[in-house]
Amino acid sequence: MSTIDFELNGDAVRVDAPPDRLLLEVLREDLGLTGSKLGCGTGDCGACTVVLNGATVDACLIYIGECAGGSVETVERIAETPAGTCVTEELASHGAIQCGICTPGFVVSAAAALETLGPHPKRQEIQDALAGNLCRCTGYVTIIEAVRAAAERFNADGRNP
Ligand code: FES
Ligand code: FES
Repeated sequence: MSTIDFELNGDAVRVDAPPDRLLLEVLREDLGLTGSKLGCGTGDCGACTVVLNGATVDACLIYIGECAGGSVETVERIAETPAGTCVTEELASHGAIQCGICTPGFVVSAAAALETLGPHPKRQEIQDALAGNLCRCTGYVTIIEAVRAAAERFNADGRNP
């Protein structure tokens, strides 16, 4: 058991856990942040995507010990940012949410992508940005259209809603 300090969604947190406990388990089971989902548990589906030290990662592959001294942002915070708000609202309005297991991961990845995608990203650029996120329900068409709309909206006024 170790004491691990890190920043979570802008606040300092301290957890007592074995350093090889998975970040996803700590978030969901110890800290009550259940937005990040357990899909595959093997780094393939992206349902557990969070931002660690500024980069998107699969929380099911990260040991909590790796987070010591670092910064973790989860969908709970990211969905409230200007980019996350655009993505979340456009996913909903495009009907791009069915079972919803994949949605938090898409919100995190797409919100990160909006910071660099321009207002009119090509389909391939969106697909590349979301390559680590799988959806078994929607067939992706509505998700890509939603992210395209989010990019346009984010660049038009979303940075300062
Ligand atoms: S649950 Fe982490 S990538 Fe699927
Ligand atoms: S909405 Fe069900 S996996 Fe994407």
